[in-house]
Amino acid sequence: MQNFEFKNPTKILFGKGQIENLGKEIPKGAKVLMLYGGGSIKKNGVYEQVKQGLNGFEYLEFSGIPANPEYEVLMQALKIIKEENITFLLAVGGGSVIDGTKFLSSAALYTGTEPWDILRKSIRTEKGMPFGAVLTLPATGSEMNSGAVITRAETQEKLGMGGPGLFPEFSILDPQVVASIPKRQLANGITDAFTHVLEQYMTYPVQAYLQDRFAESILQTLIEIAPRVIKDPADYEAAANFMWCCTMALNGLIQKGVPGDWAIHAMGHELTALYGIDHARTLAVIAPSHYRYFLKSKKEKLAQYGARVWGVKGATTEEIAKAAIAKTEDFFHSLDINTKLSEYTDQYQGTAEKIAKRFTDRSWMGLGEHKTLTPSDAEKIVEMSY
Ligand code: NZQ
Ligand code: ZN
Repeated sequence: MQNFEFKNPTKILFGKGQIENLGKEIPKGAKVLMLYGGGSIKKNGVYEQVKQGLNGFEYLEFSGIPANPEYEVLMQALKIIKEENITFLLAVGGGSVIDGTKFLSSAALYTGTEPWDILRKSIRTEKGMPFGAVLTLPATGSEMNSGAVITRAETQEKLGMGGPGLFPEFSILDPQVVASIPKRQLANGITDAFTHVLEQYMTYPVQAYLQDRFAESILQTLIEIAPRVIKDPADYEAAANFMWCCTMALNGLIQKGVPGDWAIHAMGHELTALYGIDHARTLAVIAPSHYRYFLKSKKEKLAQYGARVWGVKGATTEEIAKAAIAKTEDFFHSLDINTKLSEYTDQYQGTAEKIAKRFTDRSWMGLGEHKTLTPSDAEKIVEMSY
């Protein structure tokens, strides 16, 4: 097991009716900006519950944060934060709204001239404006981590940011919100969380037995509840397990003491930036090719996953590893998630070269757990996913 430090300061309020406790978590006397997306919260009762919770606070609202939170839109919110002397941010939404709020938390205290530099120059956020979240869509884990991914349509870029200043003060997780989520977003959430676990697990063995089993148990639970959640998102027990799996998949716990890959996400973000494909779906496109391409260096963990999570039996490690990749693809298909780029866009020719060039331009010469994935490897992997 590798050395590690672990601190996660986010307070979680989990369960039925927890939005009621919102007011107790926001500092007294705070001037709040409540941020949300395109309006789903106005159709499922979350908006009214949040407003109730904000009773007694001075607050303003900012709506219209789109999926894949857009820089230009967020800059409008930043103006309000500064003009209105906002002191606390409240995200009410999925990963996009929470990530957008994290950007604003950082940008509100940023002293440089162009907040895009936080992303372009990978400036870590040591301290941000305090914020909390009411989660409406289990998927990203953003509610209990300190990362965010922001899109800039103007330049077709999608870049990550983070730092210890970007953990939410609190996040409210009421699984009842899952009832109103459309099937497509449910499938996305399951796929995203599943791949988060894979990114932190499918590397090479470091004798981290507990972390491996944490990871495998999240995968097994997602596999178990997926058909129930898709069939009936109002099934509270399934929704509750789904929600907690998504949070635990990316709140830092399973990544401690083990190597991480994250190259699937790096390539996937480019597919969203170029074609607007849903985040989770880009992962389902890249993951199978990525694992086939790196079969040799990842086969021990692939085989462990195949045997323990899918019950695959085979004569050799390589056979089990290959079957595990096929099982993973089958799982995505069972959620109605396509795993080929050509199923999402007709413009796929040339994508691999484009992504390789972008990685080269950004000097991303060594991704993955061994820091050896070159732009030319990325090109081959993306091409395999056509
Ligand atoms: O905008 P509204 O109207 O609210 O509708 C949203 C949106 O259209 C809808 N929705 C959310 N909750 C709902 C609901 N509809 C009905 N009922 C509800 N309860 O769902 C749509 C998608 O929402 P979005 O927030 O975009 O989805 P998700 O949570 O999957 O977030 C995706 C974003 O998070 C980033 C992704 O790159 C992408 O930009 N990620 C963030 C990570 C992090 N911070 O740690 C890690 C991830 O790997 C990921 O990169
Ligand atoms: Zn993800």
